Amino acid sequence: MSCMQHLVALLALCLSLAAVAASSNHLPGGVNLNERFFNQVRALIKRRMQEKNCARVHCPLSNVHLQPPLVDDEVALQNQRSYDNVPIPAASVPTPVLVENWPTEQHSFGQVTAVSVDPLGNPVIFHRAERYWDVNTFNESNIYYLIEYGPIKEKTIYLLDSKTGAIKSGWGSNMFYMPHGMTIDIHGNYWITDVAMHQAFKFKPFGSKPLLTIGKRFRPGSSVKHLCKPTSIAVATTGEFFIADGYCNSRILKFNAAGKLLRTIPQPPEFLSLQVPHAITLLEHLDLLCIADRENMRVVCPKAGLKSSHGEGEPAATIQEPDLGRVFGVASYGDIVFAVNGPTSMLPVCGFTIDPRSEAIIGHWGDFKNPHSMAVSVNGSALYVTEIGNNHQTNRVWKYVLA
Ligand SMILES: *[C@@H]1O[C@H](CO)[C@@H](O)[C@H](O)[C@H]1NC(C)=O
Ligand SMILES: *[C@@H]1O[C@H](CO)[C@@H](O)[C@H](O)[C@H]1NC(C)=O
Repeated sequence: MSCMQHLVALLALCLSLAAVAASSNHLPGGVNLNERFFNQVRALIKRRMQEKNCARVHCPLSNVHLQPPLVDDEVALQNQRSYDNVPIPAASVPTPVLVENWPTEQHSFGQVTAVSVDPLGNPVIFHRAERYWDVNTFNESNIYYLIEYGPIKEKTIYLLDSKTGAIKSGWGSNMFYMPHGMTIDIHGNYWITDVAMHQAFKFKPFGSKPLLTIGKRFRPGSSVKHLCKPTSIAVATTGEFFIADGYCNSRILKFNAAGKLLRTIPQPPEFLSLQVPHAITLLEHLDLLCIADRENMRVVCPKAGLKSSHGEGEPAATIQEPDLGRVFGVASYGDIVFAVNGPTSMLPVCGFTIDPRSEAIIGHWGDFKNPHSMAVSVNGSALYVTEIGNNHQTNRVWKYVLA
């Protein structure tokens, strides 16, 4: 595609999104939440076009700063929130620094859909081996086409050495059809989503039978018993867990540790319209669940309601700036959120550091093509990002240290 075609395509995308936003945001008084935002996207693209030969722009975009799209109603709502709206001091925010030549030897993974870090600090990846998700994977009712091919025969989960990136061990053969999300909790349990099976699972490491299963096998649906292409899971130290459900239902389900449904987000009349919640992360100290709200091109953080239900259904903290684009991955450490976007026409694909309390992007880092998932180690020393590509060079995992 030429530069000009890119521009035209992105403008068309913006206008159609603005139209969708205008029709789907039922703010009191009919305020168009996104009009100002998309004007800023247009201005940003125009600036991009004026840059030399329309070359790919790399992060960081240190000279680009745009205001988040607040409308007056939102300002008023924000002031009602129960946490302090005080920015984090810049000096206490870690910067991700790429570890060069990691892994030291190349792997031959399939699509690396997820990464997490186990309690011992080992990065663990979840991949699709020879299988990939394309237009022939699901029919229009979200039914997986290739059930008769059986589960992926190869190991889908590999534990890596944090120093060298070498494979230490693996499991997950003959279990999954189309891997998507994987989160390891503080006890070392694996929480996995499979978009083909429309299910979410809890496993012991190297387990062959799930300890817990949510959703009906190969049966998509929107009832509280069904999931539809679930994307990601976040687990609290209290044992409560959240499933991002996902590509079709665009909702979050909250469960107690035993797997009893506690709540859905949004729960009417709560105002929070999600479009493909693609990844989620918990900030327990702030009692926030931060969501990569992919197709809305933002990160939103409603109250998680872990300590008490106080504040549940309050307006969510919202991070939406024109250079954010479609957000694929989120991870957190302390009160800080890290995010990666994915291809959004001409916007650079990179990493973002976010302060959810001031609802601001406070740093840019990294340079990616098609990132899909990210995770921070339990002690906060390392951050990993996976990318989905079409060969063994581009299906990969990157390591960053948090300095
Ligand atoms: C964090 O964990 C890693 C992996 O176990 C270890 O190598 C590192 O020394 C730890 N860092 C800190 C600051 O505790
Ligand atoms: C998808 O496949 C299922 C199972 O074969 C079938 O019942 C359903 O009608 C199909 N949907 C469409 C839209 O083709």
